[in-house]
Amino acid sequence: MSIDSQSLGVLILAAGKGTRMHSEKPKVLQSLLEEPVVYYPLKAAHDAGLRNIAVLVGHMGEMVESYIREEWSGVEVIWQLEQLGTGHALMVARDWWSRFDDVMVLYGDVPLVRSETLSGLVERHFAEGPQCTFLSTVVDNPSGYGRVVRLADGGVRIVEDKDALEDELEINEINAGVYMFSCRALSVAISQVGRKNAVGEYYLPDAIHMIGETEGDVNVIICDDDRELIGVNTPLDLAETSRELNRRMIQRHMMNGLKCMDPGSTWIGPRVEFDEDVFLEPGVQIWGSSRLSNGSRVGAYSTLRDVKLGEHSVVIGPSVISDSDIGDRAVIGPFAVLRGGVVLKDDARVGRFVELKNSVVAERAKIPHLSYVGDAGIGADTNIGAGTVTCNYDGRRKYRTNIGTGCFVGSDTMLVAPVSMGDNSSTAAGSIITKDVPDGAMAISRSRQTNIDNWYERKNISRVSGEDGDKEG
Ligand code: UD1
Ligand code: CA
Repeated sequence: MSIDSQSLGVLILAAGKGTRMHSEKPKVLQSLLEEPVVYYPLKAAHDAGLRNIAVLVGHMGEMVESYIREEWSGVEVIWQLEQLGTGHALMVARDWWSRFDDVMVLYGDVPLVRSETLSGLVERHFAEGPQCTFLSTVVDNPSGYGRVVRLADGGVRIVEDKDALEDELEINEINAGVYMFSCRALSVAISQVGRKNAVGEYYLPDAIHMIGETEGDVNVIICDDDRELIGVNTPLDLAETSRELNRRMIQRHMMNGLKCMDPGSTWIGPRVEFDEDVFLEPGVQIWGSSRLSNGSRVGAYSTLRDVKLGEHSVVIGPSVISDSDIGDRAVIGPFAVLRGGVVLKDDARVGRFVELKNSVVAERAKIPHLSYVGDAGIGADTNIGAGTVTCNYDGRRKYRTNIGTGCFVGSDTMLVAPVSMGDNSSTAAGSIITKDVPDGAMAISRSRQTNIDNWYERKNISRVSGEDGDKEG
């Protein structure tokens, strides 16, 4: 889009209390598909090619500010110390927006707005040249929203739900809270906004009426998709918008080749990326900045968070994987848990009831059953027997276990870290390994077996005589 980015600012209002959410977290940081609500308007503005973005913070503003600073470099933060309404918000930020010719204002709690809608709004505003353009939409249930009152002289006025008269409450056209203003006109109008209304707040929509009365034209763009402009005010809104966003995103991915067996039970975060040909079974959740490559498959009821899954790798469900980088043709699960920085190289296998933490498993290595491997490196072609545990924690500190290539670790081996096994070494089943094992060696560390001859006969005799009193089996 060809917008002179120097002349246009975008202000996102995110300072409000969000009382209706009943939460200790500010509303704009409530989780929507595991991203804060305010992520979405920021992303839409960014994707629309808009720069010069600022977020207005206030209520629990430190939390919002640190999110913005960490995740959105280049986005400015403006403080509204007292939250006296959306009109007051624009008064407080005046120094910032008055350096531009035009300003777009978005509410931080309108997460479904599309980038195409924002760029369309900018284009119409510049093409038609009014002092204000804003979005409205027609909804079945307008309660809670500001109603767009069409005046006899062709102008518009927005009446808030709490101030509306009975016949105004019947109006189904609502203010979406997405505006473009000429800064010059806004500057005059905002100074005149008062707070004589049901809640004693300065309403930004009042400025629109004033612009229409005194400064010039106001355009309303009626948006067809009413779901796009849902404001998130309550936990119910949060659930509805989650579902809608998820539906929309899965649809987009499926149009690009994603195979999703049951889209209704699949949940995907907005930063997840897919190659063309990925298959998801029912009940799968994929979050964070995960990336799934061609030919990979995720089994039913698995959760992946910040996972890179290589080509033709298969996760058999249910499995839970986070912070992991998985190579090509790996097989994982069912009932596997990978977390805290696991690297699984090509053709590695992690099987049933295996937990892996902060470990590197090299090419073709196998951990097929019932093991805990933490803070370890496992060499290529090594086989870890069932029930093996890396004892990595002494109650105070964590230590590493290093296992070379081509090793055979017998079932039920306890590797007491720090410890290492050289290449092509092995351990006998049931061993407790406390000393390093040299290359090519076999370590046995368990008590020697004793066989007691004629055990059953002896037992039988003693039971008949009743002398030892042992009743246990
Ligand atoms: C607002 C509009 C309403 C519209 C609806 C669309 C006003 C007065 N009303 O109502 O016409 O239909 O949005 O969703 O604008 N905020 C601040 N500082 C404040 C107050 C609010 O930054 O002092 C922020 C909030 O964090 C929120 C946004 O502004 O992100 C909107 O505030 P909210 O209280 O949710 O307004 P609504 O009642 O939903
Ligand atoms: Ca709202």
